Formats: sequence, structure tokens, C-alpha cells
Amino acid sequence: VDRQNPTLLFRQLYEGLRAAILTQRLRAGSKLPSSRELAQELGVSRNTVTAAFEQLLTEGYVTMKRGSGTFVASEVPDELLRTSNNAVVLGKAKRTARTISQRATLLAQLPASAAELPHKPRAFQPGLCAIDEFPIETWARLTSRRLRRMPRTALDYHDAVGWQALRAVLAGYLSAARGVQCEAANIIIVAGSQHGLDLAARVLLTPGATAWIEDPGYTGARGALLGAGATLVPVPIDEQGIVVSKGAAGAPQARVVYVTPSHQFPLGVVMSLARRLELLEWAAGAGAWIIEDDYDAEFRYAGRPLAALQGLDRAHRVLYLGTFSKVLFPSLRLGYLVVPPDLVATFRAVLAHTAYHAPLLEQLVLTDFITEGHFARHLRRMRALYAERQDMLVAAAKKELAGLLDVQPNEAGMHLLGWLPKGSKDKRAFQQALAYNVYAPPLSFYCDRAKLRPGLLLGYTSVSNEEIRRGVRRLRQALATPQT
Ligand SMILES: Cc1ncc(COP(=O)(O)O)c(C=O)c1O
Repeated sequence: VDRQNPTLLFRQLYEGLRAAILTQRLRAGSKLPSSRELAQELGVSRNTVTAAFEQLLTEGYVTMKRGSGTFVASEVPDELLRTSNNAVVLGKAKRTARTISQRATLLAQLPASAAELPHKPRAFQPGLCAIDEFPIETWARLTSRRLRRMPRTALDYHDAVGWQALRAVLAGYLSAARGVQCEAANIIIVAGSQHGLDLAARVLLTPGATAWIEDPGYTGARGALLGAGATLVPVPIDEQGIVVSKGAAGAPQARVVYVTPSHQFPLGVVMSLARRLELLEWAAGAGAWIIEDDYDAEFRYAGRPLAALQGLDRAHRVLYLGTFSKVLFPSLRLGYLVVPPDLVATFRAVLAHTAYHAPLLEQLVLTDFITEGHFARHLRRMRALYAERQDMLVAAAKKELAGLLDVQPNEAGMHLLGWLPKGSKDKRAFQQALAYNVYAPPLSFYCDRAKLRPGLLLGYTSVSNEEIRRGVRRLRQALATPQT
């Protein structure tokens, strides 16, 4: 044994003996020294030797006969004794390519967000809700009540598309609050929108098929569609939303269109009614599917929200996606897909062979949280809080950032866009801000082909008023430094 070697002594001994057995330096049936003798000889504790022997015994390399000692097993499998296998076990195999899938290679190459997880600093991380405000005591009470009262059958496997009672309350909520056409039967509970996107992409796209993606757009959607082998076609956004005519001209064969009509991510544009109808008509004619990501629709501070695009769809071409990451908390990992009724059976089958269902306990607690009124109450509180935080950010930016960053209010959402002076580089400004402990991702990070004015995203929902003021002051210091 080598005491300089970081590998545990018992492990070294075990590996040495195993190698000796596999290379037949220790012959089948031969007797090993007793643990006491070996410990003395090697200058290690007896426990070390016993642990190595026990590991060899568990794996079938040795047998133990009570009273007479430890012997090399007579039936070490033949294939283990062949030299090629020995080489693998002994770490002497020749190096061969360690190939992974194209899909994994592609996803690993996507630019990752520079955010530290869990998020630090919070100012001005986009898309993160006020986790400090979540009524965790209520959640704890509902969880322990469920755990105490639920029947043992709750521990069994369940329907892959989710807990029926949760699907039923969601059907009520989505039709009343968002104008979604749905029943419990066509709602599928998923582990957050990212899982919903991955699942929808697997169901709708054959590798090589084309998908339109908003440009600028949500990187999570890019990843999920690319992961399914899609060829992505970036489609620009104007003041009415995705420019359908550009998509139709450039990629008429697309199978899937990913959109955020309520509040385009990251520009914040609300898709106009005319554009919604144009998109639905195009999709119905082309036989394409639309994935409507309604990630932050609950946060509207002024004006009436437009109902979901899915509510206008008569051709059953829209899959509506929502998440609890923004309204409750992101580590809950629960969301939902509303799918056309004729696709439910396929989704159930695909789920049964991939993720299966989301954890049941969380689904049960969430059902209670909604039906007992806590959800509506929390949402009301957060809406008021976020409206106040947005006002605070706009006011602080007006006072501190004049000439450096133009921050305009928005009627909805969880972040604002700050426009940098023409000619500046937003990636550079992002790095400057990071040096001052402010996280404000550059707009260009979300662009594919789009060439937009340089800007920064400023998430305000998870940031207290005091942190907003401090963050804005730090941002001023960062941006006042001339760009080189
Ligand atoms: C456009 C968009 N969709 C969805 C999500 C939510 O993702 P998830 O439900 O996987 O947490 C986000 C979060 O940042 C988002 O920005």
C-alpha cells in the first residue's frame, strides 16, 4: 500500500488483490493470509484488511470458510479472466473514443447564463419571483397534513399525466383567468415549463424538422427544440409580436412555432389580435403546431390582459404551456401543458417512457394550496408588490441613470428593458455591471440574427426596494466607466 496515494488504504488493498486474482497470480482455490497476518505485514489496521476482504467476498472473488480462512474463489467468471477484460479492470485498456450523442454535444455548447445558482446577486436577475415572500408556513402545514392523512396508495405509481384533482382545479383556473379552452382531461402536469418544452418537442418534432423561434427569444426554448433535433429558424419580432409573414416566407415547412404572445420574452411586446389571427390561420393551413409559453401572464399591472392565444384556436393547433416557477417558487418544478384532446394519449405514452409523472406529494399540496384560496391570495399580494417594485426601479433609474440607461415602465411582466446609448456594447456593459455585483443580462444574449439596440434586462420582482436603490446606484458607477 502507498500512504502518499489519496485512495483509501482498504481500496488499494482490495484493488491489488483483485488484480492478482484476475491475472491469476493468485490461483483459484489458493488461501489468502489471515487478516491479522496481512495487517501486520502491510502495517495497516486489521479493519482495513477485513474491509478489503469483505468487498472481495461481496463481489465473488473470494470465499470464506468459517474456521479455515479466506480462499480465492474457484468460479471467478471466465470472461473476467480473459486479458481484454483484465485490461479494463486494471485500467490498462487502450484509449478509445468516448462518444456521446450529437444532441448532448449541441446542448453542452449552448451559451450558458453567467448567473450563479442559487442566484446571487438578486439585483437584477430576470424571471425570479420574490421567494422571501412565499408563505412557507402555510405550505409546510398543508404538506404535513397531506402526509399524515394520505392513504398508502398515494405511494404507488400514478397516472403519468398528473393528479386528476390538480388537473381539474387548473382547468377551472385557466379557463376563467386566461380564457384557455380546456378540461381536466387535456391538461398534463409537467416538471416546470422546461420539462413541458422538452416533452412537447419530443412529441411534435422528428429530428431534422424545422421550428420557428422568436428572435430575440427564450434560450430555454431554443435548447429544448435543438435537443429534439429541430432545425431552428429565427423569426423577428416587431411591435405586434412575431412577424408571421417572415416566418412563412423563410420556413413554410415548419412543424412547430414557439411564441410568448402575452408578454414576449425578452422584449415585453404583447402580440396584437391581428397577428394572433394571422399566426393561427397560417398554422392551420400549414399543419404546424404552436407552443404558447404563457410564463408570466399572471403579472399584469395595468390594462386588461389579452386572453390566451389558445382560446382563439378553432383548429386545435395550440399547446398552451404554464409554470408555477413564477407565481410560487421555481424549485417546486411544477407546470402544465394544455394539449389538443387528440394528443393526450400520445403525451401519456411518451411520459410513461421518459419522466413519468411529477412527484405526487407536491401535486397534492399544490391542489390544496389552490382550492383553499392561498394561491389567489399570494398572487394578489405579489401583483401589488411587483407593481410597487417596478415603480421603484423606474423612479430610481430616472434619478440615477439619466444618459446611461433609459428604463421605461411596462404594464406586465417581471423585468424591464434598459436601453444603453447607441454605439455601446451591451455584453461589455453586462460585464461592467457584474464587476459591481449587479446581474443585468445583455439583450444581445437572447438574439440569434436580430440586430437590436444595445440593452440590459433588469429583473425587479425578487429585489427589495432597498436592494433596488442600491443596485441602481452600483449600476450607475459601473456604466459611468467608459467602455474601452
Ligand atoms: C420565457 C420563459 N418560459 C418559461 C420559464 C420558466 O421555466 P420553468 O418553468 O422551467 O422554471 C421562464 C423562466 O425564466 C421563461 O423566461
